[in-house]
Amino acid sequence: MVVNTSRDQMRMVLIKCFMFLVVLTFLWTFSRADTEVFCVFGESCILPCQFHASSDPVIHWIYMTTGDLWVYSYYDSRVQLGHQDQRFNGRTSLFEDQISRGNASLLLRGVKVQDQGRYQCYTSTTMGDKESFINVKTEAPVSEVSISQEGNRITCSSEGIYPEPELTWSTSPPSNMELQDRPRVQQTEEQLYSISSSLMVSDRDPDLIYSCTVRTQRNQRNQRRATLKPVETRKNKTPAPKKNPDIFREKCIGIFLGVIVATIIFMLLFICVIRCSAHCEENRLFKIR
Ligand SMILES: *[C@@H]1O[C@H](CO)[C@@H](O)[C@H](O)[C@H]1NC(C)=O
Repeated sequence: MVVNTSRDQMRMVLIKCFMFLVVLTFLWTFSRADTEVFCVFGESCILPCQFHASSDPVIHWIYMTTGDLWVYSYYDSRVQLGHQDQRFNGRTSLFEDQISRGNASLLLRGVKVQDQGRYQCYTSTTMGDKESFINVKTEAPVSEVSISQEGNRITCSSEGIYPEPELTWSTSPPSNMELQDRPRVQQTEEQLYSISSSLMVSDRDPDLIYSCTVRTQRNQRNQRRATLKPVETRKNKTPAPKKNPDIFREKCIGIFLGVIVATIIFMLLFICVIRCSAHCEENRLFKIR
């Protein structure tokens, strides 16, 4: 009995130890994990960094993704930009009034797609050194989706998006749309994406309403939609070729009527002249007599 109890106690202690280690590992992993920051293209963004406030701190911000680039430095109680990489020139700053409170957060202005990646915040004080890592992700939300019709082809497009967008068509009521093409995706110099796709309007279902949705893969909230009820293409097409024969026919009728009127006037004049000349001849003969 006594042996058994101590064995149970032993087991309990071991389980507790194990649990403690699991929790510790979990916390350690989480405390060391990079902080994720989402920055919007063209806007300002704060990369957070905290340290134990103390006099005379050294602060270095380093961009680690494409070799180590100097982003910003502060030591000897002032900003030191001698080593700053030029891509961060004029776009970065610390909140200097906050440094004495242990706040070394970096303000990044006019965010570019290229700014995404891993940043290190290194601080050193009399209290010790500290490194923390920030993982920046850039987003350029879908701002506008446009949809237009040309003949019986409708085209949907959107631009200035990051990361790579996807485009989907749907109809109301639902139908299978076998006639859609694969979206064309292009990237600008600023690495922003534009996307467009076309499809042929179905003749079988003239009452369908077409919707086009553009979204980025990373963020489902980052999506926009546009809808279009196609104007019937057959009605549109017919007046165009009809127009010319109509004008032609009108012109023909005009010319025809003109010729008839001219002929009648000419004949009347002719009759008049003949009558008149006959009358004149009579008068002349009468005078001679
Ligand atoms: C650090 O300072 C910035 C700018 O004032 C502020 O937005 C941020 O919340 C501060 N961080 C902390 C933890 O106080």
